[in-house]
Amino acid sequence: MDSSAAIYSPFTLALYDTWVLKVSNNWAWQCPTRSVLLPFFERHVRRCHLDIGVGTGYYLAKARLPEGADITLMDVNPASLGAAARRIAHLSPQLLKHDAFTPLDGDQAYDSISLFYLLHCLPGPTAEKSRVFATLKHNLAPDGVLFGATILGDAAGHNGFGKKLMAIYNRKGVFGNSDDTEEGFASELDKHFEKVELQVNGRVLLFAASRPRIS
Ligand SMILES: C[S@@+](CC[C@H](N)C(=O)[O-])C[C@H]1O[C@@H](n2cnc3c(N)ncnc32)[C@H](O)[C@@H]1O
Repeated sequence: MDSSAAIYSPFTLALYDTWVLKVSNNWAWQCPTRSVLLPFFERHVRRCHLDIGVGTGYYLAKARLPEGADITLMDVNPASLGAAARRIAHLSPQLLKHDAFTPLDGDQAYDSISLFYLLHCLPGPTAEKSRVFATLKHNLAPDGVLFGATILGDAAGHNGFGKKLMAIYNRKGVFGNSDDTEEGFASELDKHFEKVELQVNGRVLLFAASRPRIS
């Protein structure tokens, strides 16, 4: 497990919702959790859902989910998996300790797959981390959607607080997003999906991709 996942211990996960979802999302990335990210999650989540890079399980715990939601949690870090699984125990999620870069065994197809704040953690460059799109598109139902949010790189024009966090996190390998741009992700998503919707809020790119290109 590399630094992008190893940083999430029971201790840091206990601070995660306050530090990342309240303080950093408001003041550094300027993309509020409750008014932007949570509604975006609710708009796209469907009944049979795979969440990758689960953290504390905040979005699944707070979102209004479709009736009979069938949830799978996937993360390379057992501390994250455990924290999220406990938080949404009422949903009886299935757990996969699995690296996002490794194709899933079998031909399980999900109605929706979420990647919230995973891509900016993965090592760059954008084209390299976007290998996950090439594998995950095979695990989407034909009318399924892959969606998520990721903090953009240095060119996004971060404020002073954001620049400081970007420098520290990228130096420590917690983030690998210095060179990530909206255009870079647009081009990578277009390679794998016929329909791609992008929006930038603050310094965060929100994306939803459907109709996988399967050759
Ligand atoms: C920043 S947290 C995101 C948490 C949550 N999705 C959110 O938006 O609040 C990143 C999560 O991705 C996981 N992660 C990092 N690298 C991963 C990889 N290669 N495969 C699967 N999970 C990974 C970490 O363990 C952590 O739980």
